[in-house]
Amino acid sequence: MSTLDRTDELVTPLTATAAASGAQASASFRTNEVYSGATADVSTERVHTVARAVLKAVHAVIEEHEVSYPEFQAAKKWLMDVGEFGEWPLFLDVFVEHAVEEVASKAQHGTKGTILGPYYLPGQAQLASPATLPSRAEEVGTPLLFTGRVTDLDGNPLAGATLDIWHADSDGLYSGFAPGIPDGNLRGVVSTDADGRFEIHTIEPAPYQIPTDGPTGALIRAAGWSAWRPAHLHLLVGAPGHRTVTTQLYFAGGEHLENDVAEATKPELVLNPVQTPSGERVAEYDFVLERA
Ligand code: DHB
Ligand code: FE
Repeated sequence: MSTLDRTDELVTPLTATAAASGAQASASFRTNEVYSGATADVSTERVHTVARAVLKAVHAVIEEHEVSYPEFQAAKKWLMDVGEFGEWPLFLDVFVEHAVEEVASKAQHGTKGTILGPYYLPGQAQLASPATLPSRAEEVGTPLLFTGRVTDLDGNPLAGATLDIWHADSDGLYSGFAPGIPDGNLRGVVSTDADGRFEIHTIEPAPYQIPTDGPTGALIRAAGWSAWRPAHLHLLVGAPGHRTVTTQLYFAGGEHLENDVAEATKPELVLNPVQTPSGERVAEYDFVLERA
């Protein structure tokens, strides 16, 4: 056995397969309230307008690029594969959600939002600030202190605001969607103190790669695209009487920041962590919530 084979063997049990993470993401999409709205009442006219426009756009691409029968049948097979792997939540959140979010954000004030992605799980540990996110004894990664304040649009502190935070580990994998990671790892709901302040100790996440062994990965490879998202923290920040902000924070100078496959970065959402003598990096961010 070559060294490479042995490495493969060691890595395989920890590697998220597209089918496993896809199935989990599909189940989560169907059951978690945060993705609700799928049953919203929509008028016949609205369905007609949007569905017709989608079909027209597809027809226009076929005509413009003279798409052939073999290409049409390959696309049909690929679409079926995406469903069979349960990858629709992954595919749509990576390639489409940002456009929906940009429409929604036009009417919003306060901290910028960005995509939710497929890996949110509700019901995590409730932690008072200062908090430490649940992690494994052997958790690898640079220690990170994420700290700041939550205020309203006038700068008044919001005591008892909540930061529902989740992020990938140092392999770019999320608990609940990859094998071998305990439930709730690197996830938590942290409440602000009387001054609206929060302090969250965790580790820095690694960049996230779209699973390469499924149909979404196959498309990315076939098209020669990047499969990467820059390292990020996911957050739902809310307070009673205020609109909950769905957002992500990135790291200045981080890999893939300029070519996020999900097109979900915004200049306002980049952290500038400062190195401390203890080896922990400290990143500050203040959130501003508008009234609901
Ligand atoms: C996807 C994964 C993420 O971690 C994220 O933030 C957005 C999208 C995805 O695989 O679809
Ligand atoms: Fe993510």
